[in-house]
Amino acid sequence: MLARWVGEYLIRPCTEDDIASVISINLVSLPEHYSDYFFEELRRESPETFLVAEKNGEVVGYIMCRIEYGFSNLKRFNLVKKGHIVSIAVLEQHRSKGIGTVLLQEAIKAMVKKKCAEAYLEVRVSNEGAISLYKRLGFIITSKIDFYYKDGEAAYVMTLPLEKMGQ
Ligand SMILES: CC(C)(COP(=O)(O)OP(=O)(O)OC[C@H]1O[C@@H](n2cnc3c(N)ncnc32)[C@H](O)[C@@H]1OP(=O)(O)O)[C@@H](O)C(=O)NCCC(=O)NCCS
Repeated sequence: MLARWVGEYLIRPCTEDDIASVISINLVSLPEHYSDYFFEELRRESPETFLVAEKNGEVVGYIMCRIEYGFSNLKRFNLVKKGHIVSIAVLEQHRSKGIGTVLLQEAIKAMVKKKCAEAYLEVRVSNEGAISLYKRLGFIITSKIDFYYKDGEAAYVMTLPLEKMGQ
């Protein structure tokens, strides 16, 4: 992906210089935090699926993903290539403007290009807004993991089949 505008927001690949902003958005938006190295590693390993949203030169949102091989969430015992959406966040004052949707759409397009059979993510069972956003994009709840988060909350695993999208 080169770049795509959503109103005044530019959706583009994350550069090395954006990582500090991404880390600070993660810190204020989500309770799940990671080492600086982890962010850098995901960008190095899969730059096509690590995207940011920028307005007037300021990074206001990001999505970062990891390409994995493992058992399908949809077809039992099938080994597949999967796009794992590790984290997505948009600063509160910039939400509900379609940025989250476009970050997801563009990361999913990149996963299709990389021949992933499915995209998946974990989401807190209480995060109704995000769950409805994922459902609108076609994700379905494929499992629930009890005590997934450090505070004991369960996660839904939500999965989107990509095979038909690549045809
Ligand atoms: C989830 C998130 C990235 C969505 O970003 P966004 O730019 O607001 O997404 P969009 O504008 O494309 O879509 C918003 C829609 O998603 C749903 N939605 C997403 N998060 C929501 C929330 N916290 N409360 C209510 N609805 C929410 C709503 O249906 C909303 O529709 P609306 O615009 O009519 O209100 C953003 O809410 C966020 O950063 N949340 C905190 C971090 C988080 O929970 N990340 C997901 C972890 S799995």
